[in-house]
Amino acid sequence: MTEPPRRALVTGGSRGIGRAVVAHLAGDGHAVVAAARSQDPLDRLAEEATARGWQVTPSVCDVTDEDAVHDLVAREGPFDIVVANAGLARSAPLERTSRADLEAHLAVNAVGVFTLLRTTVPAMRERGWGRAVVIASTAGVTGAPYTSAYTASKHAAVGLVRAISSEVAGTPVTANAVCPTFVDTDLTTVTLERIAATTGRTLDEARDALLARVALGRLVTPAEVAAAVAYLCSDLAAPINGQTLILDGGGSS
Ligand SMILES: NC(=O)c1ccc[n+]([C@@H]2O[C@H](COP(=O)([O-])OP(=O)(O)OC[C@H]3O[C@@H](n4cnc5c(N)ncnc54)[C@H](OP(=O)(O)O)[C@@H]3O)[C@@H](O)[C@H]2O)c1
Repeated sequence: MTEPPRRALVTGGSRGIGRAVVAHLAGDGHAVVAAARSQDPLDRLAEEATARGWQVTPSVCDVTDEDAVHDLVAREGPFDIVVANAGLARSAPLERTSRADLEAHLAVNAVGVFTLLRTTVPAMRERGWGRAVVIASTAGVTGAPYTSAYTASKHAAVGLVRAISSEVAGTPVTANAVCPTFVDTDLTTVTLERIAATTGRTLDEARDALLARVALGRLVTPAEVAAAVAYLCSDLAAPINGQTLILDGGGSS
């Protein structure tokens, strides 16, 4: 590793994209705190980390619980790297999206990100180095049918990144968003199951229909997202601030 070891926090670090980010950063020699709500997947991650010689600290924390986020940062911080990855995604047509659905998405994908960055970025500025990366989505920069609550929350997350990046501009702290299209995780499996259930298609047919909307022609892998995050967290990414790095094979270009 050419970079000095850093202290990192990854929310939603127990599964999917977050787990891949934890693996990449820990594999690069950083000390990583992985946060999520459920203990069991965190325990499995901790076992793998021990086997691989990674420095990973699992921590139960719901990002919608402001006190829990503050406690986690007070206990395990300060952090040089924060990856706001924990997220909620459900799809439904507008008429079947309730105000409660919208508020649930905003609570995790927007307010949760706000709480995390507000609790960690000022300390990065004081300490003189920092990287904040938000896992948003292509839904943070474009609209798609049946995603009003998710898209609104991800646009809010990208807006937060843009505003915060302008506040840290000119300092050794950066804030950026990573915006993948569909990634091969549990979350996408649930989406496919929902498409199959509501349209009467098989899972394979649902997957083909979903991929027909993806320029890449396949799902993005969690490791590909993690590599983009790790780059944005590196010293070499110092000039990149306030950007949305889109991983979609060119569909939005
Ligand atoms: N998969 C995709 O196609 C895709 C595409 C673009 C963007 N994204 C974004 O990428 C992020 C991760 O998605 P993923 O596909 O990896 O999801 P995933 O496979 O469902 O994993 C979600 C992770 O977040 C944790 N989590 C969920 N709610 C949480 C909360 N309130 N507080 C703390 N941790 C929480 C989960 O653990 P617990 O359930 O134990 O809390 C789990 O570790 C999300 O923000 C998502 O919107 C995903």
